Amino acid sequence: MRLLIKNIGMLATPVGNRATAQAEVEKIENAYILCENGVITEIGSGTPQIDCETVDAGGCLVTPGLVDAHTHLIFGGWREHELSMKRQGVPYLEILAQGGGILSTVRKTRAASEEELTQKALSELKNMLCHGVTTCEAKSGYGLDVETELKQLRVAKELCKLQPIELVSTYLGAHALPEEYKNDREGYLRLMEALIERIGTEGLAEFCDVFCETGVFSAEEAERILKKGLACGLKAKMHADEINPIGGTEKAGKMGATSVEHLIAATDEGIEALKDGGAIAVLLPATSFYLDKPYARARDMLRAGVPVAVASDFNPGSCPSSNLQFVMNLACWKYRLTPEEVLNAVTKNAAAAISCADRIGTIEIGKQADVVIWNAPNLDYIFYRFGQNLVKTVIKNGKIEHMKG
Ligand code: NIG
Ligand code: FE
Repeated sequence: MRLLIKNIGMLATPVGNRATAQAEVEKIENAYILCENGVITEIGSGTPQIDCETVDAGGCLVTPGLVDAHTHLIFGGWREHELSMKRQGVPYLEILAQGGGILSTVRKTRAASEEELTQKALSELKNMLCHGVTTCEAKSGYGLDVETELKQLRVAKELCKLQPIELVSTYLGAHALPEEYKNDREGYLRLMEALIERIGTEGLAEFCDVFCETGVFSAEEAERILKKGLACGLKAKMHADEINPIGGTEKAGKMGATSVEHLIAATDEGIEALKDGGAIAVLLPATSFYLDKPYARARDMLRAGVPVAVASDFNPGSCPSSNLQFVMNLACWKYRLTPEEVLNAVTKNAAAAISCADRIGTIEIGKQADVVIWNAPNLDYIFYRFGQNLVKTVIKNGKIEHMKG
């Protein structure tokens, strides 16, 4: 199983296995990549004479496959009925407090069969693949009961077998307090702790996440759940500072969370805690766009030495789009990141945010052959021609999985 990608006008890739050096991108002109059994075995310039299956990149840009490090991929229904409320300025947390928002998707996800959830996610994954995504994280959190949370995690496992995008699962039982536990927070926290033990034992997720926000889960509750996760082998992530800074980021930094996500309202202390704890900031600009909120302080984070990843946050409420190219454009124009910094944010640093940077996220010998060929001559062009799908060909594990037209 060999595949040669030849006639690459510009090969642009971050290097290394750790989330650092945000602006560092290696560029090789007139390049080729040889893949064998799904792994990159040779990179060079010029045109080698190798007799095997060949893709002609036509002088275009080639980058690593994109990694979407934060999605809520699996859910029932949509929430377009909230659009007019949102347009009238009803706050996100108020819709949730009225039993809508996340809780409305919980009702639909509980009612959906495993097959329905699978088919729905499959069609979204297809869209993600043709936009250049080769790996994505998928959170549970629309079940909030044992049965439906496990259903979401099982669907994620099944999806890995049905299509090429690799999924990394996160248990997000602490996404909202379920209606049936309205008067029994402690009861729900205990239910989650028991479920985390089971998820750890059965290997159903790699990460545990908590939505730490006013009226949802406090910093102390978040810490309690994430510590339970760590004790059961689930690495920690946190939704923090999306709307209000209530101290979650500081706690997540201290406990060595792999990543802290959203961070729209992050304080200087929060940013310092991320730096001290070695956490990756996973920023979600399309959520700022859709909730009409400010944009996270990406440049301040980079200045403080915090590595930044950028992801879609695809979900039915705060970001009903899984188009990572649009997210990359927002990151460039709203965070003021350079094209090189954004490329790192959706490849190597995103891979590090889901603990996969030793395998994916860069084009280097020994890494998995996850590659995108773009309808673009160079990296700047992607940020210049915004709003268009510029992906031409997607290769996953050394196999062509999408070709435009
Ligand atoms: O990351 N904030 C919490 N969770 C999602 C939104 C989920 C929803 O609204 O359904 C987010 O924005
Ligand atoms: Fe999210």
